[in-house]
Amino acid sequence: MNLILLGAPGAGKGTQAEVICEKLGIPSISTGNIIREALKNGTEMGLKAKSFMDEGKLVPDEIVIGIIKERLAKDDCRDGFVLDGFPRTIPQAEALDAMGVVIDKVISIEVADEKIADRMAGRRVCEKCGASYHTEYKKPSVDGVCNLCGGALVRRKDDAPETVLERLQVYHEQTEPLKDYYLKAGKLRLVEGQEEVADTSALTLAAING
Ligand code: AP5
Repeated sequence: MNLILLGAPGAGKGTQAEVICEKLGIPSISTGNIIREALKNGTEMGLKAKSFMDEGKLVPDEIVIGIIKERLAKDDCRDGFVLDGFPRTIPQAEALDAMGVVIDKVISIEVADEKIADRMAGRRVCEKCGASYHTEYKKPSVDGVCNLCGGALVRRKDDAPETVLERLQVYHEQTEPLKDYYLKAGKLRLVEGQEEVADTSALTLAAING
């Protein structure tokens, strides 16, 4: 199954992508994680993307479309995948269509802007493997330490409150119109984000299977 996860920054796309990945045995592809990895490794693409990302703006379409083309060509995508954070603009969605990629369902996780600030304030990510936690809603077993690899948990630079506001504005202006794009294609399913991660996961899986 080929899936897309839509939603505002911090709505829980990454968290749900992990759940889907485990349940359906398909890879989760996060353009945000790929760009952060490139940045860590100091590649040309990572350096080009840095200023956009740090300011909460979108990285130019041609860069992310290139990333996705390369990633979807890999063998592990043959039986399906979940796209977390791509597409984020209409031209990106059109590029996906032009690649001949057939999307089965688009799940949009709906969370009000007011709740996003709280989610982002408590988010911590592993600086080694990128796994995501929350100081209240998804605590690691040992404070400040990643359950998966033992790496240190840190705050993402673009989770600073003023950058989160910019990211939300960018989401409403450039990404939210994709809901209409996929509604018209008959693929959109809305999932109301819940207080508990497990409750959102149950709704997400029901939307995929329904
Ligand atoms: P990206 O890394 O994709 O960030 P994002 O979309 O802004 O989304 P986040 O990762 O911040 O949030 P999420 O929805 O995955 O939430 P999470 O599950 O972590 O992109 C970063 C940047 O890269 C962009 O700003 C842009 O510059 C660039 N970029 C990436 N893709 C691009 C593209 N296609 N085009 C152009 N530029 C691109 O959850 C958030 C927190 O809440 C966590 O702490 C989690 O534990 C907690 N949580 C999750 N679910 C719940 C729940 N139900 N209840 C309580 N807490 C919860």
